[in-house]
Amino acid sequence: MKNSIFKDYLFWKISATFLLILVAVGLAYMYIITDALDQNFHERNQRLNAKMAAHIIEEVKPFLNGEITEDATSEIMHHMMAINPSIEVYLLDPQGNILKYVAPYKKVKMEVVSLSPISEFIASDGQQCILGDDPRNPGRTKVFSAAPVYEDEELIGYVYVILAGEEFDTVNATSKSTLLWDLGLKSVGFTLLVAFLIGLTAIWFITKNLRHIRQAFRNFQNGDMNARISNQFGKGELSELANTFNEMADTIQGNIEHLKSMENLRRELVGNVSHDLRTPLAVIHGYIETLIMKKDEYSAEERDKYLGVILESTEKLKKLVEELFELSKLEAKQITPKKEPFFINELIQDIIHKYELIISEKGISIEPIFKKNISLVHADLGLIERVLQNLIDNAIKFTPEGGRITLETNDLDRYVEIRVTDTGKGIPQEQIPFVFDRYHIGDKRLSLDNNSTGLGLAIVKKILEIHDATIQLTSKLNKGTTFAFELPYYTK
Ligand SMILES: Nc1ncnc2c1ncn2[C@@H]1O[C@H](COP(=O)(O)OP(=O)(O)O)[C@@H](O)[C@H]1O
Ligand SMILES: [Mg+2]
Repeated sequence: MKNSIFKDYLFWKISATFLLILVAVGLAYMYIITDALDQNFHERNQRLNAKMAAHIIEEVKPFLNGEITEDATSEIMHHMMAINPSIEVYLLDPQGNILKYVAPYKKVKMEVVSLSPISEFIASDGQQCILGDDPRNPGRTKVFSAAPVYEDEELIGYVYVILAGEEFDTVNATSKSTLLWDLGLKSVGFTLLVAFLIGLTAIWFITKNLRHIRQAFRNFQNGDMNARISNQFGKGELSELANTFNEMADTIQGNIEHLKSMENLRRELVGNVSHDLRTPLAVIHGYIETLIMKKDEYSAEERDKYLGVILESTEKLKKLVEELFELSKLEAKQITPKKEPFFINELIQDIIHKYELIISEKGISIEPIFKKNISLVHADLGLIERVLQNLIDNAIKFTPEGGRITLETNDLDRYVEIRVTDTGKGIPQEQIPFVFDRYHIGDKRLSLDNNSTGLGLAIVKKILEIHDATIQLTSKLNKGTTFAFELPYYTK
């Protein structure tokens, strides 16, 4: 699959999210800025015009004997509106009721305004930014100027001036959108664009590595067991991720290979077993059948002879099954050597003792050749005994009368070498590479003999393999054969 950036959804997803965040931040920024500008304008406006209401009272005297002077209010309207169309002037009674207003062509929706911001404003002498009710828009507040009107020391009302009236709002709305356009698109937009391009490059670099890693994951998922991440990320999380993936892939691959080899082994075993058990079974079956059918025709000796063959075949069958089982367990790594320290010379001495009877019957000799000072070896005693048994069995089988078998141990500093030598018929050169194979039997006539399964040396090789040891074979036709292997000394 091509590693195209257009198919890289992660890159686009992160980029789109980043863009959204940038736009949101930009909008918030613009909102905050215009709001602050607005606020600032109103504050200045109020401070600047704080005395407006007081001036109106002084110049125009809107109340006379507690009554509103109609002429005065018209005058106010005339003057003020002409000079500053953004203001709206109200006359209030001491309770805040609107008595008169000067704001032409527009509806006033409130009849009474709250007095508390007005008192606060007067108390602070107009130096604080205070918002008061906007009579035209119930619920909204605006900056204002206000002043009390006294007559004979008695409060008779207030002059209340909204400093940014509806006229202002209309103008403000248009100029605000111009401001937003200027501020937003020109400056903020440009800044965001630059930030976005820089961000895009950074994201591209980050996702490039992720793309690389993901590609390896995909390949592995699609069955490419050799897919690994070449670690080019130095140190850090990505490098750790890459290493973890590689290790995991190694483990999985190892496990699969192990399972495959187990499966092969199982198939091979089933095949071999059914093939190898068939022959002795057929022999047993045939003899028994004949004995049953023709039992009256055979003499007692003949019957005994056939029963003897049957017995031999069952013995061979038994041995074959046992050895097959042993070998397959070894090969499936179900046997692990239980290593312990022991004296190899003592083990050899014991084994020789067991074989003495058979040996003397066959007219051959078996003897040890020990050097002194052989230390303890470290190995699985039972399994090494099995190795020696198999080697001695072969030596006895292939050595004619008058022959000699020797079991020799040599000190090789940190190892002990064990040699099993016979003066038998030897192994033809061309067969030497194959004697350790399963079912390899040098002389096929021997396979009828109940002592040959062709598995003995395969077992030997496997046992030594799980001891990390190898076995060497030297042989001369009609002179004799030597098998040699090494075991490590026991070190505390
Ligand atoms: N000491 C020996 N002398 C001669 N030939 C041997 C000796 N040991 C093994 N061989 C050859 O190697 C073959 C395989 O031996 P092994 O695996 O033990 O099977 P088996 O003993 O059942 O035949 C034997 O059939 C024989 O041809
Ligand atoms: Mg054998």
